Amino acid sequence: MPDLSTNLAGIQSPNPFWLASAPPTNSGEQVQRAFDAGWGGAVWKTLGNPIVNVSSRLGSVDYGDRRMIGLNNIELITDRPLDVNLREIAEVKKRYPKHAVVVSLMFDTRDEWREAIRRSEDTGCDGLELNFGCPHGMCERGMGSAVGQEPKVLEELVRWVMDVANVPVIAKLTPNVSHIEDPALAAVRGGASALSLINTVQSVMGVDLDRLVPLPRVGNLSTHGGLCGPAVKPIALRMVGVLARDPRVTVPISGIGGISTWRDAAEFLALGATNVQVCTAVMHHGYRIVEDLIDGLDAYLASKEMKSVSELVGRATPAFVEWGELDLNHHVVAKIDAATCIGCQLCHVACHDGAHQCIHLPGTPAHAGHVAPMAKFAAERARAANPASPYRVPWVDETECVGCNLCALVCPVEGCITMVEQRRASAKDTWHDRMATGRDHVPGGLKDLR
Ligand SMILES: Cc1cc2nc3c(=O)[nH]c(=O)nc-3n(C[C@H](O)[C@H](O)[C@H](O)COP(=O)(O)O)c2cc1C
Ligand code: SF4
Ligand code: SF4
Repeated sequence: MPDLSTNLAGIQSPNPFWLASAPPTNSGEQVQRAFDAGWGGAVWKTLGNPIVNVSSRLGSVDYGDRRMIGLNNIELITDRPLDVNLREIAEVKKRYPKHAVVVSLMFDTRDEWREAIRRSEDTGCDGLELNFGCPHGMCERGMGSAVGQEPKVLEELVRWVMDVANVPVIAKLTPNVSHIEDPALAAVRGGASALSLINTVQSVMGVDLDRLVPLPRVGNLSTHGGLCGPAVKPIALRMVGVLARDPRVTVPISGIGGISTWRDAAEFLALGATNVQVCTAVMHHGYRIVEDLIDGLDAYLASKEMKSVSELVGRATPAFVEWGELDLNHHVVAKIDAATCIGCQLCHVACHDGAHQCIHLPGTPAHAGHVAPMAKFAAERARAANPASPYRVPWVDETECVGCNLCALVCPVEGCITMVEQRRASAKDTWHDRMATGRDHVPGGLKDLR
């Protein structure tokens, strides 16, 4: 059986699955149930000065028959007393010594940070996470994402913390920046032991069209919130990947954002995360999902003959490069498998209106190169009108196909359209190569301004 245990900057955990700081880690009773269910670690709901929350505070995006593919919240940090949280953290750590218990913090003054760190460490916690991510409410008070968006402030604050901390410190970053490297490197310079990302993405969930108030509604007003859940996974994956491949980022990364299945988790690990944190999927389906996460990752590692999670970490990182390093001579074309095609012709519509007009209906002369007398195709066209007829199978004009993938993405039959390699030339050629050899560089262009 592969070894699922992980070590994030010295924080040991029986498996890579942690609960992110959020409602599922509000209280000791919850975290204990989560550990019993199989979670390897938990980052406690952020502690700070007393706050008052609004109601309602959650909104979601549904898509088709899928509920909550994106979840938005305008909740603040914990609304439970500091003493109660700290007592429960100590109890949990005592009862579950092998699990990772991390305390999330967000305070204002240096003295408040010092005091909170001292008291948190007294609980026996394994690490601290600094919440530089909350993009609503707390940032209006100068904390949360307001720090995450100001690398200078972030660096200084991390220094304050590192001056007094005796346990590993994770800086949790906001995705609401144009270059995630800036806050990440500031945290590294400040001395953080690890990074975690992403917190939520600034968003407005919709508008109540009867009351004409945005959602979620607080009386007759609303405000922007933070988006998370499956919808944000691609944003999070990119940011984790960008930091993991950056040689200046010398600390490990905890990946967060839209993780619901073992596959999601494996993707974050492969792109360079040492472990993962989960919030929305647990708010949706409960702590029990960890069983599938563990079983799935375990089976995947075994199928790839990997003996431990650490063998997977970063395995896809070398393949994640800038656009300019991609091979311009790599070319693919779409091929339709007539045997499995159900003749829905969605690929034809997509290619015709949304791509390059090179998937044609059977019997349709395409353009000059393929023109034939219309009469020749009359019988085929008549047969193609019958939905059950195999003559509804479209055909691809490979000479025109640019290999964009759209038809394969819309095709409802798995594996029916494949993209087959037809290289333009055997040698590799990249945009970077072209620039280096002066083939694509236009003097006086924007590049010269930078
Ligand atoms: C209702 C709610 C409250 C949250 N509260 C916190 C918090 O107190 N501290 C924090 O660092 N992140 C908080 N988060 C963000 C999550 O920890 C996590 O970064 C984010 O939800 C992305 O993960 P997910 O896609 O698995 O939900 C909260 C998220 C939600 C939905
Ligand atoms: S979308 Fe797929 S199944 Fe439908 S016609 Fe095209 S190839 Fe056939
Ligand atoms: S890959 Fe793109 S261009 Fe080629 S057939 Fe499909 S949709 Fe058309």
